[in-house]
Amino acid sequence: MRVLGIETSCDETAAAVVDDGIRIVSSVVWSQVAIHAPYGGVVPEIASRNHMRAIVPVVDSALEQAKTDLNHIDGIAVTLGPGLIGSLLVGVQFAKALAMATSRPVVGVNHLKAHVMASFLTDNPPHVPFIALVVSGGHTSLYHVRGPGSFELLGRTLDDAAGEAMDKAAALLGLPYPGGVAIDRVSEGHNPEAVHFPRAMMDRSSFDMSFSGLKTALRSYMEGGPCVGVGDIAASFQEAVVDVLVAKTMAAARQTGAHSIVIAGGVAANRRLRDRMREVSQEARLDLHLLPLHLCTDNAAMVACLGYHYLFGGLATVSAPRGLEMDPFARNMSDGW
Ligand code: KG4
Ligand code: ZN
Repeated sequence: MRVLGIETSCDETAAAVVDDGIRIVSSVVWSQVAIHAPYGGVVPEIASRNHMRAIVPVVDSALEQAKTDLNHIDGIAVTLGPGLIGSLLVGVQFAKALAMATSRPVVGVNHLKAHVMASFLTDNPPHVPFIALVVSGGHTSLYHVRGPGSFELLGRTLDDAAGEAMDKAAALLGLPYPGGVAIDRVSEGHNPEAVHFPRAMMDRSSFDMSFSGLKTALRSYMEGGPCVGVGDIAASFQEAVVDVLVAKTMAAARQTGAHSIVIAGGVAANRRLRDRMREVSQEARLDLHLLPLHLCTDNAAMVACLGYHYLFGGLATVSAPRGLEMDPFARNMSDGW
C-alpha cells in the first residue's frame, strides 16, 4: 500500500511517498531555515505563509520523484500536531482537500510518534519493545514503544525542549541560528568540564526533564563575566544537556528492561550525544539505533510510515483522527492515540 505523507508542523514543508510503511519511494523536504535565520528563531506567521507557497510544489515533486500520481496513492497521512497551529492548518487542510478530490482515506498522525517511526525506515529497524528519545527544537520526550504505533509516554521536558535550550544558549553566546548546530560545531575539541552547569531533576525517579534552569544559569554566568572562551562554555553547556538526556534514557531502559534504544529528532544529530549514547549503550550491551540525519530532522516519510499503520496496518482499529472532521492541535496530548 502506497501512502502520501505531508508534514508542515514547524518550518519544514515536506511530502513523501512510502510503500507498506517501510520503503521510502520519495521524500522531499523544503526547509525555511534561511528565511527565519535573521530573526534568530521560527516566526510562526512567516512559517505559515511559506508553507502556503511551498505545499503544492513540494507535494508535486514528491509524486514526480516517485514517478507516480494521485491515482496511484492508496491513502494520505498528515501531521496533526503538536506544532505551530497556523503551519499545521496548511498541511491538514491541503491533505483534506486531496482526500476529497481523490476519494482516498486521510489520517492524522502525532508528530512525535512519527519521529520514532522513522526508525522503521532504516535498513536496520529496531526490535520492539524499545526506548525512544525524541529530542528536537520543540520536543523532548521518552517513550516505551511496544510496537508500531504502540507508545507509552514515560516522561518529557516540563519546560524548554533540549534543542530550544541549545538554540537559546547559542543566541546568548552570539552564535548563529540554528543554535544547536553551532554549539555542536564550536564545542569540538573544547573542555566540557570548564564551567559547571546544573543538571536538573537527576535525583528524581521520574523520567521528566527540565532545561530552562540551564539557560538561566548560562545567562548568570555570562553576566558575571566569563573567564573561559566560547568553545569551553558551549562544550560545558552541551555536556549538561547531554548528561540529562543520556541518564534519563538509560534509566528508562533499565526500568522497562528494553534492549534497544532509538534516538530521533533534530538534536539526535548532535555528535556529543551520539558519542556518549554509543559509549553507554555498549557498556550496557544495548542495541542503539542512531538514525541517519535526514531521518532525524523533520520529514514526511516518517508521517507516511505511521499513517500506513493506522490506515492499512495492524493499527487499523485504532481510532486515530481521520477524514474531514479532524483538527490540528498545537500542544501534545498526554498519550493514547
Ligand atoms: O526535529 P527538528 O528538525 O525540528 C523540530 O521539530 O524542532 O529539530 C531542530 C532542532 C533545533 O533546535 C536545532 O538547533 C537542533 O535540532 N539541532 C541540533 C543539531 N542539529 C540540529 N542540536 C544539537 N546538535 C546538532 N548537531
Ligand atoms: Zn520534529
